Amino acid sequence: MKAENPTYFAMSRFAVAPMIDWTDRHCRFFHRKMTKHALLYTEMVVADAIIHGDRARLLDDQTAGPVALQLGGSDPDKLAKAVELAAPWPYGEINLNVGCPSDRVQSGTFGACLMKDPKLVGNCVAAMKSATGLPVTVKCRLGVDDQDTGPALDALAAAVWAAGADGLWVHARKAWLQGLSPKENREVPPLDYDRVYRLKRENPSRFIGLNGGLEDLNHALEAMSQDGISLDGVMLGRAAYQTPGILRHADRLFFDDPRPAIGWEELIAAMADYAAAHIHSGGRLHHVTRHMIGLFQGVAGARAWRQILSSEAAKPGAGPEVLLAAFGAVKPALATKREMEPV
Ligand SMILES: Cc1cc2nc3c(=O)[nH]c(=O)nc-3n(C[C@H](O)[C@H](O)[C@H](O)COP(=O)(O)O)c2cc1C
Repeated sequence: MKAENPTYFAMSRFAVAPMIDWTDRHCRFFHRKMTKHALLYTEMVVADAIIHGDRARLLDDQTAGPVALQLGGSDPDKLAKAVELAAPWPYGEINLNVGCPSDRVQSGTFGACLMKDPKLVGNCVAAMKSATGLPVTVKCRLGVDDQDTGPALDALAAAVWAAGADGLWVHARKAWLQGLSPKENREVPPLDYDRVYRLKRENPSRFIGLNGGLEDLNHALEAMSQDGISLDGVMLGRAAYQTPGILRHADRLFFDDPRPAIGWEELIAAMADYAAAHIHSGGRLHHVTRHMIGLFQGVAGARAWRQILSSEAAKPGAGPEVLLAAFGAVKPALATKREMEPV
């Protein structure tokens, strides 16, 4: 069956999930150095913050390539306004958060609790679509609390398609709105990928992406298809953040880009330059290097790497030479590793 939006489908095969406090602009810059093609999501930005807050700070982005801005909100007019106000920044997609279960988010009546109100989600998407020519997508759960994930996900999906959404990313577990912390809500409710395959089987022309519990690139690649059903994209959250080196192989595995993965020296040099510029403009080394701590897991010297980045790099006045010194701790071991070997 013909895809509704073939361009969006092609560029969204592999994504790094929106993660508050993690996928900030420094993190996205770092990830982009390792993958030219992956779709990178921002942290969730609340529509009200864009309307009333410091937009230049909230929306600043120097990441090349496909980046999606995730919004939180449930007021269609405010979401439309936020989308309009974000237009000068170089985002290629706008996404609505219908999956985040934190108390702060629930008290604003958005995030995962919107799973209970598909009609409102449809109104939000329609308003966002009317405010931009960019693709508008939704990220949701299978359901919340005692909802039956059969009708709950079908109703949400039907509402977003009817409103003109270009894609639906499904974190393949329920959220329990009472009694679990956001962290537990990413671990305790069981994963159910079959529910997502079923949604795709019943909506073959729609972009449907899978998120939740994908542990590495091979796992993600395998999870993209089952019993003749192929999903359109996979989204990694914690694995991409905690073991970011895996992103160096995403372009080859998901986008048929034959170019070799960026070399470690080139990566660290680029990040040192970026950190120097950030420090020059008043920032701290740690703002950049905190996202790099998991880079060399499993490599001899990784402990020293982590230790230097966690302590030395966080000290006031620390400069890019601290990053280079930390790299010195793992460099000998890296020299003996084969290039294709994922770290
Ligand atoms: C620290 C952290 C912050 C998160 N913030 C957001 C967010 O802002 N918006 C959102 O839709 N999901 C958020 N999530 C959920 C992730 O996008 C993702 O759905 C979840 O981690 C499951 O994917 P994973 O198993 O690959 O990590 C967050 C997850 C983490 C770990």
